[in-house]
Amino acid sequence: MAVYFDHNATTPLHEKVLEAMLPYMGSVCGNPSSLHRFGRLQRQAIEQAREQVAALMGAQTSQVIFTSGGTEANNLMLKGLSADASVQRIAVSEIEHMSLLEPAAKVACAVDRIAVNEQGLVTQESLKQAIQKDTALVSVMAANNETGAIQDIEKLAEVARESGTWFHSDVSQIAGKLAFSFEQTGVHAMTLSSHKFYGPMGAGALIVDKCLPMHSLLQGGSQEKGLRAGTENVAAIVGFGMAAELAAQELLERGDHVKVLRDALEKELMKFAVVKVFSQEIKRLPNTLQFGVQGFDGETLLMELDRRGFAVSSGSACTSGKTEPSHVLKAMAVSNDLATSAIRVSLGRTNTMAEVERFIEAMQQILGIKNSAVMMAANL
Ligand SMILES: Cc1ncc(COP(=O)(O)O)c(C=O)c1O
Repeated sequence: MAVYFDHNATTPLHEKVLEAMLPYMGSVCGNPSSLHRFGRLQRQAIEQAREQVAALMGAQTSQVIFTSGGTEANNLMLKGLSADASVQRIAVSEIEHMSLLEPAAKVACAVDRIAVNEQGLVTQESLKQAIQKDTALVSVMAANNETGAIQDIEKLAEVARESGTWFHSDVSQIAGKLAFSFEQTGVHAMTLSSHKFYGPMGAGALIVDKCLPMHSLLQGGSQEKGLRAGTENVAAIVGFGMAAELAAQELLERGDHVKVLRDALEKELMKFAVVKVFSQEIKRLPNTLQFGVQGFDGETLLMELDRRGFAVSSGSACTSGKTEPSHVLKAMAVSNDLATSAIRVSLGRTNTMAEVERFIEAMQQILGIKNSAVMMAANL
C-alpha cells in the first residue's frame, strides 16, 4: 500500500466534509445571490461556513472573505491593498510561499524583504530593520510549508503595530494544525487554504480587518463585500466550513498524533550521519520534518522513495532542466548542495507508526545503510 507523507502539499478530503458537500453538488440548486428560497438556502450555507471558519480562527464573520484558495487570498492581499493610492511601500519575508512572493514582485509600490536567521526565523530586530517610515504593510507567514518553522506572530505583530504598520500573515499551514487566533495575535489580515486541513481544493479565505483599504481584483459582482466578484463555489465553501469545524474539534488530538510519529521519525533519521534536519532548534509544525541528506540529490531521493511506495516532497524546484534549491533554505544560508538534497515529510491524521517504521527501512535501503544497529522498531 502506498503511503502518503505529503500533507503540507494537500490533505485528503475528510469523509464528513465530503458528506456535507454532496447535497450542494447535486440536489440543492440555486444562486446564492437570488432572492427566492433556492437562493436563500445557498446563502445560508455560505453564511454557516463563514461562522465555522471565523470560529476556528478567532475572527468575526464580517472579516471573512471567501476566495478560491490561499493563492488568491495572498494575491488579493498584496495587489488589492497596494492598489490603494495611500500604499507606498510593503515588506514581505524571504521565506513566503510563491503565491505571495510572485504578486509582491508585480505590485506598483516599493517592496522590501524581511530577512530570516539560519533557523528560518524572522526576529523582531530583522522586522524592525525592514520597516521604513512609509511601510504600510508587512507580511510574515505563521508557519513555513517546507521546514514547518513557526514564527512568533504575536510579538512580530506588536512590532508592526508600534510602527503603525498593518500586519498580514499567511496562516495556510498552521490553520487546523495548531491553535491560532486572528484577534489574539493582533494581525490585521490572514490567508487561509481549505485543502491544507482536510477541506476541498479551490476554497480559501482572506480574513481582513475592515480598516484596510482593500480593492477587488475582480469586477462584475458585489459578492464577498465587493472584494471577490463572481458566483460563489457553494459546495467548496460548505466543505471548507465543515473542515474548519472538524479541525476545531480535533485540533489537539490531531496535533498529538502527528507529533509522536514525527518525533519518532526524526529520532531514527538523526542516526544517519548524513542527515541534517532543518529548523531543528525552533518550534515547528508537529507534522513536518524537512531534512537534507549529504551527498544525495533530493529529486532522486523522492523518486527512490516513490518507487518504494512513499509520497514526499523535495525541497527544490526543477526549472528548465536545472534543479534549483528552495528559496526558503537559501534564505536560511543552507549550502546549495545540502539544500538540493532536501526532502520534506509531512504527516497527517491517518498515518501510523508502522508506516514510519517502513519509511526508515526504505531510507536505509536507499542510503545503503546496512547496519541494523541503527534501527529501530523496538526504539520507536
Ligand atoms: C503557505 C502557503 N500559502 C499558500 C498556499 C497556496 O494555497 P492554495 O493551494 O489554496 O492556493 C500554500 C499551498 O501550498 C501554502 O503552503
